[in-house]
Amino acid sequence: IRVLFATSEVYPLVKTGGLADVSASLPEALCKLGYDVHILLPGYPAAVKAARDAGSRRKTRFRIGQYEVSLWQTRLPGTAVTLWLVDCPPLFDRPGNPYQNENGQDWWDNAHRFELFGRVGAMMAVGEAGVNWRPDLVHCNDWQTGLIPVFLEHYSHRPGTVFTIHNLAYQGIFSHETFRALGLPDSLWRWDQLEFYGQLSFIKGGLVFSDRITTVSPEYAREIQSTEFGHGLDGVLRHRAHRLTGILNGIDTRVWNPEEDPELAFHYGRDHLKNKTQCQAQLQQELGLEVNGGPLLGFIGRLVEQKGVDWLIAVMPELLDRGCQFVVLGSGEARYEEPLKQIARQWPRQMSLTLGYDEGLSHRITAGCDIFLMPSRFEPCGLNQMYSLRYGTIPVVHAVGGLSDTVNDPLEAGIGKANGFRFIKADEQALLATINRALENFRNRKSWRRLQENGMAADYSWKQRARSYGNLYQSILKERDI
Ligand code: ADP
Ligand code: GLC
Repeated sequence: IRVLFATSEVYPLVKTGGLADVSASLPEALCKLGYDVHILLPGYPAAVKAARDAGSRRKTRFRIGQYEVSLWQTRLPGTAVTLWLVDCPPLFDRPGNPYQNENGQDWWDNAHRFELFGRVGAMMAVGEAGVNWRPDLVHCNDWQTGLIPVFLEHYSHRPGTVFTIHNLAYQGIFSHETFRALGLPDSLWRWDQLEFYGQLSFIKGGLVFSDRITTVSPEYAREIQSTEFGHGLDGVLRHRAHRLTGILNGIDTRVWNPEEDPELAFHYGRDHLKNKTQCQAQLQQELGLEVNGGPLLGFIGRLVEQKGVDWLIAVMPELLDRGCQFVVLGSGEARYEEPLKQIARQWPRQMSLTLGYDEGLSHRITAGCDIFLMPSRFEPCGLNQMYSLRYGTIPVVHAVGGLSDTVNDPLEAGIGKANGFRFIKADEQALLATINRALENFRNRKSWRRLQENGMAADYSWKQRARSYGNLYQSILKERDI
């Protein structure tokens, strides 16, 4: 089965969040299972440079409207997976990240950028892009790829389509004027197609027109059908519930392996945890914290409302006063960065704040902490809790989405199956009470060790999870008789 995997970010070329990790590790896992998966990515500067450096070439050139577009064929660095780049310098050769300029503002022409990306995806899908490879199925990811199933709708011999929701909060919403500027047919301007409360919604295209919808955990698949978590799209999703499934993300167990992680000076595993203490001491030294055996609590992530950073900020002073240490790595909104800076100034030997993006440090934090905090308001899957579990670092999470599917609390599951702590009520008191519970357990070496072992023993790899996508692909092809 040939699959075109369309995505707007992929590790290690461009990454703003978990979508990049998944867009690298899922196609690779599927290739290992025998699927012929090719990734399609916009030609961002870093990606085109990597293709050039690898000696790859342009395969084809064509015009779409005013734009000259070419397709590069290369490989995703470090893998055997084929990567196609949609090279269109006026739209994609820009500094900043895939969606925003260097000042953190959305590019003014994002609708045009990802409409063009979608058109090229659809052309490749039906064999009109001038390359000698044609997929049986297109796997779309998040709103940036939402128009692909829309464009494909007009072809009788189109491939099958899957649309995966990584985060329903980002929808690609634009004005009616933009809808007209894109030249989309008026027939699509309906509440059950692309129109969303008087605006154009890219993600709705994916949700309405694809053969199947998936999301990145079973619990999130249920949650998004409710008004509380549906971001206005729960009605559409309920309507298509029979086409919607949740498949839990896996992680790249080579990149995230405490036994061999090149970012760590000391290595450890489930039956030789001793070196984890050294990793902690080294992290404390690196960040200028007192080397004192913890408890050290960590947070890594985008500093945005989704991640519950405000609840974290609210509970930190009390825990710092009681002698806990914190390490925070992330960047995002000023309303979270400012209070965090202030806390770091007030408790310099107990609180380390790194604003920015640092892959290596994220590994050392994952290894060096005792507790990893994910108080997310909602979390489609979440990868960091799985990284932590694999590194013997106990997660404390809000029981939502993928966090709920991966973290078991001793109060609910019993110590035999528990691997972390979770709170249900969505507020900072619940977070604090649950951190307190975790800290009590931390003092009991035996039960802590048990939690660590339970977490480290589980399989978070893509192997089984990729099979679920494979089965889904097969059932779509059968249904469509491809
Ligand atoms: P989301 O996609 O919502 O941001 P995930 O948990 O799925 O959340 O994935 C986030 C990914 O980004 C993880 O691989 C995490 O380690 C990484 N990450 C986020 N912020 C940073 C940062 N400041 N430095 C390094 N890695 C980060
Ligand atoms: C999104 C979600 C995150 C998920 C990731 C990869 O960014 O916020 O929960 O893990 O996509 O699917």
